[in-house]
Amino acid sequence: MEQKGKHREETFLQHPVLFIVVLVFGFVLMDPFEIGPVGGIEFRPVKHDIAPYKHVMASWPRDNKSRLGNGKLEFVDEVFGPESLEFDGFGRGPYTGLADGRIVRWMGEDIGWETFAIVTSNWSEKLCARGVDSTTSKQWKHEKWCGRPLGLRFNKDSGDLYIADAYYGLLVVGPGGGLATPLATHVEGRQILFANDLDIHKNGSIFFTDTSRKYNRV
Ligand SMILES: *[C@@H]1O[C@H](CO)[C@@H](O)[C@H](O)[C@H]1NC(C)=O
Ligand SMILES: *[C@@H]1O[C@H](CO)[C@@H](O)[C@H](O)[C@H]1NC(C)=O
Ligand SMILES: *[C@@H]1O[C@H](CO)[C@@H](O)[C@H](O)[C@H]1NC(C)=O
Repeated sequence: MEQKGKHREETFLQHPVLFIVVLVFGFVLMDPFEIGPVGGIEFRPVKHDIAPYKHVMASWPRDNKSRLGNGKLEFVDEVFGPESLEFDGFGRGPYTGLADGRIVRWMGEDIGWETFAIVTSNWSEKLCARGVDSTTSKQWKHEKWCGRPLGLRFNKDSGDLYIADAYYGLLVVGPGGGLATPLATHVEGRQILFANDLDIHKNGSIFFTDTSRKYNRV
């Protein structure tokens, strides 16, 4: 028996490639230096109390005539990478954040799409407004300059538009638009790396999400 084990060990060490593959695999799996995307983060399982799927679906208001299939695509090749959709207190809109860093609004057939706000004075037409290319990897090196407004929410009382921008954090712009003012770029000393969406509580507090504590969008 002992002889057999020894023999196996020898053959294993006789295959350095195999040995290194196993070593690398073990390294990747265990991530001892916490360099992976979830390195250094402690995970604790929690019990959820979400209602069972069948239970939810029984009373789910469904589109049993598939009416969504009768919809027609609007604004094809007019706006690129629209994310959040909002309407202001006058019912104008939609307002949306684009891949080129602008916040635009639809002003009806006569005027069309209008630039409403930008999140940084870094924004320039030459660098940022690249049409359909702004949704591709060609925009990656410009995005952190131009901004990427992902979450939009109007304060219906004041008319102010709150913005969660992936690079510039939480901002606000008045009802007339223009250059938005930063409200928060850090939380408890840590930079907001990937602000994503927000909502305004009826007591006035603003809640927003930050997708990552380690990575920005690119
Ligand atoms: C479709 O949904 C409506 C309203 O939820 C319901 O009254 C109707 O019976 C449904 N029809 C079918 C074919 O399931
Ligand atoms: C311009 O963009 C750079 C790179 O993201 C950033 O460090 C800088 O703060 C920006 N400047 C302004 C005024 O937003
Ligand atoms: C508003 O309500 C939320 C949820 O209860 C709470 O976390 C927050 O502190 C409140 N904000 C203010 C300004 O009272």
